[in-house]
Amino acid sequence: MKTVKDLRLGAGDVQILPGSRHRPPMKKPMWIIVLVLFVCVFLICAYIYPPKSSSACYIFSSENCRSITDWLPPAPAREYTDEEIASRAVVRDILKTPLALSKNPKIAFMFLSPGSLPFERLWDKFFQGHEGKFSVYVHASKTKPIHVSRYFVDRDIRSAQVVWGKISMVNAERRLLANALQDPDNQQFVLLSDSCVPLYTFDYIFDYLMYTNVSFVDCFMDPGPHGNGRYSKRMLPEIEMKNFRKGAQWFSMKRQHAVIVMADNLYYSKFKAYCQPGFEGKNCIADEHYLPTFFQIVDPGGIANWSTTHVDWSERKWHPKSYRVRDISYELLKNITSIDVSVHVSSDEKRQVQSWPCLWNGIQKPCYLFARKFNPGTLNTLLQLFSNYSAS
Ligand SMILES: *[C@@H]1O[C@H](CO)[C@@H](O)[C@H](O)[C@H]1NC(C)=O
Ligand SMILES: *[C@@H]1O[C@H](CO)[C@@H](O)[C@H](O)[C@H]1NC(C)=O
Ligand SMILES: *[C@@H]1O[C@H](CO)[C@@H](O)[C@H](O)[C@H]1NC(C)=O
Ligand SMILES: *[C@@H]1O[C@H](CO)[C@@H](O)[C@H](O)[C@H]1NC(C)=O
Repeated sequence: MKTVKDLRLGAGDVQILPGSRHRPPMKKPMWIIVLVLFVCVFLICAYIYPPKSSSACYIFSSENCRSITDWLPPAPAREYTDEEIASRAVVRDILKTPLALSKNPKIAFMFLSPGSLPFERLWDKFFQGHEGKFSVYVHASKTKPIHVSRYFVDRDIRSAQVVWGKISMVNAERRLLANALQDPDNQQFVLLSDSCVPLYTFDYIFDYLMYTNVSFVDCFMDPGPHGNGRYSKRMLPEIEMKNFRKGAQWFSMKRQHAVIVMADNLYYSKFKAYCQPGFEGKNCIADEHYLPTFFQIVDPGGIANWSTTHVDWSERKWHPKSYRVRDISYELLKNITSIDVSVHVSSDEKRQVQSWPCLWNGIQKPCYLFARKFNPGTLNTLLQLFSNYSAS
């Protein structure tokens, strides 16, 4: 108690502390000098011998171990570039402006595919009876698809070549968004692949996506070689490594988020120039980093940080597991729909696991509405099982 009082006196509060006891005048500066010296010695020691063990860390911080540099005053905030100020102003305004309410809200299902869609008949079954509540867009980058479902006929948009890992993949996503935004009734924009199937009935998925308060954009910090290892300093000053993120490309986003993606040129052009396979000897995959990093910078609280499309990476190969006919069962699909925790693993040797509950408007719910990758040969089995497994 004595020390606290003396410190307050030292801060010049003596006049407004009527109750403070009288003390010999020389005593308090001595106290302060000794205290300041002690703190200095302590800080110098701590700087020279930074704490290594976890018990030493505990003395520094009860939450986690931070280095002494965190104690020093923070570096002055970076001054934004003209482009950043402009970008932030536009994004903030779009996010703050309430949407014009649509009388007939729809979900845009945007398919990214090389050609024909092997699961069109399954999607046809899924869409049946829900006309007017969805719209379909197909970006076929290699061959013109042959459609077997009336919901897909005449829904091809003008497309261009897509090279895996390159910015052309992001361009295709943006092209789909631009086309789907033409319809003012579209409120949610879901990106799907040709190997992707629905896990629930239309009504369940419609409600899940229409009434969520966040967009489902997969986003996590991967300190490993397939995460931050792909970052290039050429992205500075706007994109710092601490904001560099990774995530699967299969998003579902609300209309305002689709608009800010359209409005972005600043961050997009950085990824276009400095994130591509082979650049600076790194293997940067533009579609795995652009949107997660963009949202991390402009609206981190507005995204769920997981994708509603399930994929099985447990085999730890370059590509995820691709289900064949013999893998398909009611049990497999129920296993996928029972997952309600989102898990990300870092790509370094530590293989750090980050997991958090899938919260939908604050309630823990199943994470996944769609799943990939399914071989085309699984279509008939899935058609037979659909009405069974999709019943939630
Ligand atoms: C997603 O992660 C960011 C931090 O990267 C966090 O600010 C945000 O709250 C998270 N979103 C949700 C819905 O928890
Ligand atoms: C479903 O999950 C259970 C428990 O994790 C597992 O034992 C089983 O093999 C899984 N079945 C399929 C078909 O994936
Ligand atoms: C979404 O709703 C949950 C629960 O009400 C709330 O905790 C969260 O902050 C909301 N997120 C946003 C971005 O509005
Ligand atoms: C689906 O099939 C499983 C196993 O064949 C059965 O136990 C279950 O009752 C069925 N569910 C529905 C909704 O038909």
